[in-house]
Amino acid sequence: MSDLVARFRKLWDEIAPIGRDAGSGGYLRYALTEPELRLRAWFRDQAAARDLPVTEDGNGNLFAWWGDPEAGDAVLTGSHFDSVPHGGAYDGPLGIVSAFLAVDALREAGVAPARPLAVGAFVEEEGARFGVPCLGSRLLTGALPAERAALLRDADGVSFAEALGHPPAGARPELLGRFRSFVELHVEQGRALADTAAPVAVASAIWPHGRWRFDFTGEGNHAGTTRMGDRRDPMLTYAFTVLAANKEARLRGAHATVGRVSVAPNATNAIPSRVTGWLDARAAEPETLSGLVEAVRDKAVERARRDGTEVTLTEESATPLVAFDGGLADRLARLLAAPVLPTGAGHDAGVLAGHLPTAMLFVRNPTGISHSPAESATDADCAAGVAALARVLEELTCR
Ligand code: GLV
Ligand code: MN
Ligand code: MN
Ligand code: MN
Repeated sequence: MSDLVARFRKLWDEIAPIGRDAGSGGYLRYALTEPELRLRAWFRDQAAARDLPVTEDGNGNLFAWWGDPEAGDAVLTGSHFDSVPHGGAYDGPLGIVSAFLAVDALREAGVAPARPLAVGAFVEEEGARFGVPCLGSRLLTGALPAERAALLRDADGVSFAEALGHPPAGARPELLGRFRSFVELHVEQGRALADTAAPVAVASAIWPHGRWRFDFTGEGNHAGTTRMGDRRDPMLTYAFTVLAANKEARLRGAHATVGRVSVAPNATNAIPSRVTGWLDARAAEPETLSGLVEAVRDKAVERARRDGTEVTLTEESATPLVAFDGGLADRLARLLAAPVLPTGAGHDAGVLAGHLPTAMLFVRNPTGISHSPAESATDADCAAGVAALARVLEELTCR
């Protein structure tokens, strides 16, 4: 194992500086921007060093193949390189680095897979640049039409098709059909393993979740001269809605977050004319989630009436409850003697789970912090993750 720790550290150090913001210590690895393109080049270099041919699916997703890419019945593993703004180092890249190291471990152990093994890197998993999370896997599976994805624009107005250099190919059923299963290794994003003796867990489910945009409009006016009673201030409606989301989520045992807001004209001495806030909401059951979003919307509308403002709600993405293949999860949990747990975080594995038997491995996160520069995992646990992934891939490619 100590050898694996050293190997992990060596490979990890290669990518650690890429896209790291010196100020926050977090990562700015937005899909198809310079840092992520460097990581994709690194992916191709790693594949070449291992004699793994690389294919691209026309949607920005990369696959490095141990075995014949055309043969079918392949086992897929991997994750994503892109990050949220000032995100942590592990969310995504850990699954790709671990996949290459697992291939090395299997080869050195003389394992001869009976079927191909592919290492994948999915594009725009976080949705931090184009707004739709798991964009690459949604395109590959056809969950999002190529024409819609092509038109998604980043904050600078660059479309996804322009960033990709061509219109996305969209659904690739014949490629998807070449995979018999998918396993994504990922850093755990809560405290579920923090105080346990288990460095690795197997996922049971992903909570249903989505993103909703609230547009609040009112009347822009002078901060110094407009009487308090004459204002139609959308900031008030927005602020009330944020508090309502928090309260309604707590009441239901759900999660609600407003982590992004945009204000126009965004001047200290002007009452805003418009405020847009993005609600991220998640819950264990679909009914709880829909009930939560409806309650927040109703409260926002009621408050807007009192404030003399207007509010509209737009669903930007929705991911249904994902129950991972129970048989596969049990099999891997037995193989690894690992606990099984659900998560509130979204993953490409959640999208692919609707199309092929899919599993996830979670590597312990000592603080439970994620989507933050403070995200962490120990080298020993990451090495344990590689060892677990190698065992799983041997099981799936050889039996
Ligand atoms: C992606 O990581 C998400 O769960 O938002
Ligand atoms: Mn993430
Ligand atoms: Mn992730
Ligand atoms: Mn994610």
